[in-house]
Order: sequence, then C-alpha cells, then structure tokens
Amino acid sequence: MDNSSPKIVAFLCTWCSYAGADLAGTGRNQYPPNIRVIRVPCSGRINPMYIIKALLEGADGVMVSGCHPGDCHYLVGNYFARRRFVVLKRLLTAAGFDADRVNFTWVSASEGARFADVVKEVTEKVLGCQTGNVRQGTVLCPASPVGSTTENRPLSYTSGKRDELYEQYLEVEDHLISICRKLLEDGTVNSVIGYQQEGGDMSLCVPCIIDSPEDVEKLVWYNRCVPNLSSYLLQRQGKTAIVAKPCDTRAILSLIKENQLKREDVYIIGHTCYGMVGNDGNMLQACSDCTVRVPPIYDTFDGIGRKTDAIQGDRPLDNPDNLLNETFERFVNEMNKCILCYSCRQSCYGCYCKTCFMDRGEPDWQTASPDIGAKMLYHLGRTTHLSGRCVECGACENACASGVNIRYLIQAVTKFIKDTYDYEAGMDLEKEPAMLTYKVDDEEIGFL
Ligand code: FES
Repeated sequence: MDNSSPKIVAFLCTWCSYAGADLAGTGRNQYPPNIRVIRVPCSGRINPMYIIKALLEGADGVMVSGCHPGDCHYLVGNYFARRRFVVLKRLLTAAGFDADRVNFTWVSASEGARFADVVKEVTEKVLGCQTGNVRQGTVLCPASPVGSTTENRPLSYTSGKRDELYEQYLEVEDHLISICRKLLEDGTVNSVIGYQQEGGDMSLCVPCIIDSPEDVEKLVWYNRCVPNLSSYLLQRQGKTAIVAKPCDTRAILSLIKENQLKREDVYIIGHTCYGMVGNDGNMLQACSDCTVRVPPIYDTFDGIGRKTDAIQGDRPLDNPDNLLNETFERFVNEMNKCILCYSCRQSCYGCYCKTCFMDRGEPDWQTASPDIGAKMLYHLGRTTHLSGRCVECGACENACASGVNIRYLIQAVTKFIKDTYDYEAGMDLEKEPAMLTYKVDDEEIGFL
C-alpha cells in the first residue's frame, strides 16, 4: 500500500450516499481524494463478491454506503444487505484480513458533511491496516508441499469402544436391510440410496442405489459410511429412501428449504452417528467437531440406542478464542496447498448451481493464471455462498487430495450466524434461513 494515498473503492447507493457525495462537493466539504466511486442502485444490490474482488484486485480498502435503515428506495434492500455485510466482515477477519479494510455505513442525500467525515474516517482506518494485502495476479509464495489431512487428529475410538459399537452396527445393519426390503416391496419408495462395501474392503464404503428388494443385502451401515449422500437425491425421480446420518439429514433439510427437493419425495432412514472413521483409523476431523448425533428429522429412526440416549450438545468451537487467533498467514499457507481442482465444490451438497461463479464468463471472476489471489477468491467466494447454509459435514475436507484445511472459515461464519441470528442450517424445517431474512433491529456489528 502507498502509505500516503491508499486506494479505496466506494460502492455508493445512487438514491442517498451518491447524492450525499454530490452534496459534499457542492457544499465544499473537503475529504481525502482516495475513493473511487462505483454507483449502485441500492446497497442490497452489492454482491459480497464485489468487495472480495476489489480487495484482491489491489484496493487497499472498500467502503459501502447506502440509505439509512428504513429509508431504502426499495424498502428493505439495505436490511438484507446489512446481514450480508456483517457476515462478510466476520469471514474476512477469520481469514486474517484486517477488519478496518472494509467499512459499511449509511449516509443520506442530505448529509454532505457526514459523507466527508466518513471518507476521512475510512481513509484513516485503511491507512492503519496491517494484514491481508494480497493481489490477484501476483504469486506471493512458492507452492508448498502437499499437506496432510490427518495431522493432530484425536484417536477417538479406543479398541474396546470400537468392538462394542461394531456389534451394535451389525444389529442396526440387519434392521436397515429389513426396512429397505419392506419399503421397496410395498412400493413406498422406488429406490434406496445407501452405502455398500467396495470390493469386500471393510475400510471402504461407497454410495449405492438399490431399486430391487433382492439387492438390499448389499447395504451396509458402520463407521466407514463417510460420504454425504444428500446430493444424490437431486438426480432422482419419484420417492426415494435415503440412509442418513445427522449431517446428511441436515443437508436434506436445507435442500428442502432451498426448494431443491420436496419433503414428500424423500423417505429418511435416520441414524444416530458417533462419528465416522478415516483411512488412518481415526475419527474424521469434522466428526470430532460435530455434536449433532441424532438426525433432526426422519421417517424411520434406526440408530444405536433410542433418540433420547444420544448426545446433543454445544459445539467444541464455542470458545471464540479458538478462531480469533487465526491469522492471515494460516490462510496463505492453506491457499498455497490448493491446486484449484474444485473437488470441495464437487463433493458439497450445497454447491448445486448449474454454473458455478468460478465457471462464468460474465462477470469473469477468475484470472487466467491460478495464483494465490485466484485461490483466495474461490475459497472466500464459496464460503460466502455457503454462509448460513453449511451443515459442516466435512465432505469438502475429505475430498481434498492436497490436504487444504479451509473448513475453519465456514466454521467461524457458522458459529457467528448461530450466535448473532440464532440460526443453524438444517436443524429446523420451519425456521427462515438467516441470510434470507432480516430483523429491523439487527445489530450493525462493525458499522461506522
Ligand atoms: Fe439506497 Fe436501498 S436504495 S440502500
């Protein structure tokens, strides 16, 4: 950054803040000449990707200003925008960007003097920023060796516990097979999505689709049933049964809320889950972090023990210090591992757009060379899209061959949304998703 003259991109709503800037000019209110104004029809029209892209394209700071709450020309555009900005700021700080690089405020058409004051304040804040300077089109660091996805994972299954659980898995598996046979025989469902062993290898369970009662013996259920099966439902016709862990069930519920599925087309065979095990025999990291052990919704419950016996509690990440100490260096290190193969996107139940933003030509978010800025754009953009929607199944992490651990970003955002807006994706079919609604008195966290 040029310390004497930071570059600040200012997105201004045409109906109020842009007119406020005009008034500052005609009223001879002096302010630093650092802002480059982009006029937008409403603050609600500002895609958080614009802000991320501006930072990665070389802007030292970004300022967004719209009509005061209650004065939006489109009535509620700024109420929706307010939540989006608050969450985006949390995401950027979790990634290590200095919070003062992005600034949100409200300025009306009659507040020329206030506009000048806001620009002065933003310029000073941006000048004081220390971290998060990266530009798309530059390679900051050489690519690092492929990382490990299994470092520091707790040994969650002692041999005694595993044996005990394994006996119970066999019981549940028998029950599962008999339920599925009955569902297919009496025509309740056309097919069952579940798991089968691959090549007789106990350590590898893969998704399978069973559409005949004769084939139900292929189904298995034990602690290697890792893949989230919910996205297979999107390709099915007619009523389909699905073997669902709590995270699969939450994903199904989210897909129903997002109108991608109809509840009446899905028959959920819910299972209690004590966590799935990876190839190294240890519990997967996402499963270690998870405390939702019982599906929040099901048609048949087939878990180990009764519903009331299962654990359901706070997440281990509830101490915010776990996340506040994360730094920009950590983000850079994870980005250096990424090879932009998009496996995380392919494995994610929530990434169902026909054309992902990364594959679009207009606007063209991606640069020709996949440098670190491009990787940051992809991961920050994807996390923005999943804000308030991710059920933290860990499919992205499991799919990554390069060992990129970027799930901590969405964990930070998910926790923030839970604490601030009392919303957790996939837990309640009735509740409005946090990012699709607003409250008039939503807190303006981090606003000027
Ligand atoms: Fe100004 Fe909506 S019209 S914020």
